[in-house]
Amino acid sequence: MEMPDYKLARKRSKDKVEIRDFKIDKDLLELGLNKKFFLKTYGCQMNEHDSENLRGMLHLMNFSETLDMEDADFILLNTCSIRENAHNKAFGLLGRIKHLKESKKDIVVALCGCMAQEEGVVEEIKKKYKFVNFVFGTHNIDKLPKLLANSFKTSKLDIEVKSCEGDIVENIPVTRENKFKAYVNIIYGCDKFCTYCIVPYTRGKQRSRKREDIIHEVEELVKDGYQEVTLLGQNVNAYGKDLYDDYDLSNLLVDVAKTNIPRIRFITSHPWDFTDNLVEVIKHHDNIVNFVHLPVQSGSTRILKLMGRRYTKESYLELFKKLRSIPGISITTDIIVGFPGETVEDFKETLDLVNECKFDSAFTFIYSPRENTPAAKLVDNTTLEEKEERLYKLNELINKYSKESNDKMLDNVYTVLVEGTSTKEGNLFGYTETNKLVNFPGKIDLIGKIVPVKITSAKSFSLDGEIVE
Ligand code: SAH
Ligand code: SF4
Ligand code: F3S
Repeated sequence: MEMPDYKLARKRSKDKVEIRDFKIDKDLLELGLNKKFFLKTYGCQMNEHDSENLRGMLHLMNFSETLDMEDADFILLNTCSIRENAHNKAFGLLGRIKHLKESKKDIVVALCGCMAQEEGVVEEIKKKYKFVNFVFGTHNIDKLPKLLANSFKTSKLDIEVKSCEGDIVENIPVTRENKFKAYVNIIYGCDKFCTYCIVPYTRGKQRSRKREDIIHEVEELVKDGYQEVTLLGQNVNAYGKDLYDDYDLSNLLVDVAKTNIPRIRFITSHPWDFTDNLVEVIKHHDNIVNFVHLPVQSGSTRILKLMGRRYTKESYLELFKKLRSIPGISITTDIIVGFPGETVEDFKETLDLVNECKFDSAFTFIYSPRENTPAAKLVDNTTLEEKEERLYKLNELINKYSKESNDKMLDNVYTVLVEGTSTKEGNLFGYTETNKLVNFPGKIDLIGKIVPVKITSAKSFSLDGEIVE
């Protein structure tokens, strides 16, 4: 039994990160014969990619996947802590599983991911969800085979959550969801400690993967016919700082570009570490997509300070303008409304910033207090009703600029990576470099290829087009 511990989770030392290789006992390889698993994933792309690793390990043990929870021998929830509603969804599903387990006693149930790193969550599981078989965290997903094997032997709740700065595990098996686009981790954890955010506690300290491991993974993906990689990290712009003296994200991007993979994306960028060199590298490489997700969170410098974001409205705008000078670039953002103490004037500054930047699209959220974070202790006098009104206003503005950005694409030709058939018969769907969804008529043998498409109609959330011969 090892319980989560916030004090340990907060620690940041200069200790060297241990890199270990995934290992599995031979006698676990047949554990899943004739057994099925059901995996539910919440949260960000990093969690989705962790789930690809969880699937990889389960497949290695010969489990097969079912999309019907009632049909599963093993149910695994890979959870997210970022906002209260992510919590509620996972606990809601646990409630349903409780009923299921009353009639099917042999099902094994486990919870992992960011919620497993929270002291309060694990306490609640111990008290109210005793039917759960085991809990493990984000630092030891490679322990899944062992924990699962034990759970078939005993029904006692096992909690194995490490609250530590974290190490790196290489070569975990992976079952990728998409045949053409792949996620590649480049940096784990986060040291930014924005005051509202739980991620630094659930994911540990910033630690970069070695450049040769990343390049090797991308080279293998190229050999397997992949068309696109997304380099992943909570703060990709910090890449290399913990590992090298003179090798950062811009250098890594140049090296990944040399593999000739047709499309390279990277998420998420923090404005603080965005160098001029990085802007130049994006500008001068055809296979680094013209797309940057640059979360601003607020347009008020006062609120940004309270959030611990380390930039001002002015310095954000300065960086934004540099990026906008790249021809054809698309810039998206994240915004939080209703941070403790946000006044009507602060909110107006956010709207002003949106009017100035005209983001191509944005994710918007109502602030959600998270256990153990500094912002959760701040006085918050704004009513939920007022916050919902602010969100509504903000979304109206965001949608207006999304539609404008789509309208500008009309009659122009863009490259689209074709991913599959769309619901309308005879139609295919795919994404532009700037991550816009396009539907267009075409033959299924184009799936997996990058084709030129002329945009014929623009809606708020998608585009229609036709292939240019
Ligand atoms: N590492 C990324 C974002 C990680 S979380 C970055 O720094 O940009 C994704 C988004 O969730 C954040 O950008 C933020 O807008 C939102 N978010 C994080 N914590 C939140 C909270 N407590 N309440 C509401 N939104 C939150
Ligand atoms: Fe959270 Fe800030 Fe780190 Fe992003 S940079 S993960 S918002 S602490
Ligand atoms: Fe959620 Fe954890 Fe990602 S909190 S957003 S799954 S890093």
